[in-house]
Amino acid sequence: MSNENAPWPHKDLLDTDQLSLDDVRRIFAAATSFQEVNQRPVKKVPTLRGKSVVLFFAEPSTRTKTSFDMAGKRLSADTFSLASSSSSLTKGESLKDTALTLQAMNPDAIVIRHRASGAAAFLAQRLECSIINAGDGWHAHPTQALLDAFTLTQEWGGLAGKTVCILGDIAHSRVARSNVDLLTRLGATVRLCAPRTLLPHRIESWPVEIFGDLSRAVDGAHAVMCLRLQLERMQAGLIPDLREYARCWCLGPRHLERAAPDVRVLHPGPMNRGVEIDSALADSLSSLVLDQVASGVAVRMALLFLYLTRKEAAQ
Ligand code: CP
Repeated sequence: MSNENAPWPHKDLLDTDQLSLDDVRRIFAAATSFQEVNQRPVKKVPTLRGKSVVLFFAEPSTRTKTSFDMAGKRLSADTFSLASSSSSLTKGESLKDTALTLQAMNPDAIVIRHRASGAAAFLAQRLECSIINAGDGWHAHPTQALLDAFTLTQEWGGLAGKTVCILGDIAHSRVARSNVDLLTRLGATVRLCAPRTLLPHRIESWPVEIFGDLSRAVDGAHAVMCLRLQLERMQAGLIPDLREYARCWCLGPRHLERAAPDVRVLHPGPMNRGVEIDSALADSLSSLVLDQVASGVAVRMALLFLYLTRKEAAQ
């Protein structure tokens, strides 16, 4: 049994594999209570008054950055944004010096997105404040996986016995890596479907079923998660061209005819309509894309609450 009053046991959130299933249940319970706050006319509670959170995004973001900002503000924390394009990183300052500079301002947490795998861990080893990984290179995107699993849990009541197909550029996807860990530990069967060139090395050791045919991968699936081609992280030559890729790998209504009834379609965003997901399907009743975004605010409120109150809870 999880003890909801026990101090939160983690200083940092680097990936989902740090979290026990009890931790995940606590995050989901807190997120559920914050969903109610998010429906109020006045969407603000004093829970984190006096706490400060730096949003250090050295890669572009719409959903993750905005939802962390909104989550912090709805809990009355002060949030401060630092983008790499407007920071002294552009003048040659190192990540280490940037981090130590931020630490000297004594924030309670730094939420970091960075192109380098391991950037969040690098900060976590050096700084006293909590580090929350908002996506590091190809490595991990734990808050995305948590909000995806939370969205599906709310939809189905639980993931045991469900089959989730993750489709697209798995090789370059931090979302896929974190989701495979979390969804499988929550009891789902995970299928990965991609062209061979977009599967990671040593995929055979992952706890997943691998498909090279979209129709077969979706057969009987309860949910399909489409992933964007991560062109910014991709070597040339891995796909023939976008039109040919879309012809073979773009999820459309016809593929879902053999999926489970009431199959759900997810996408972490940003979507490239007509490349990895059919535009009408993205807007259809099967789509959970905007539910994922709404869940993202509640889940990130839960994370800020748990990580930023862990010291008080321990006293
Ligand atoms: N899913 C996701 O990380 O979206 P953003 O890049 O917009 O934050």
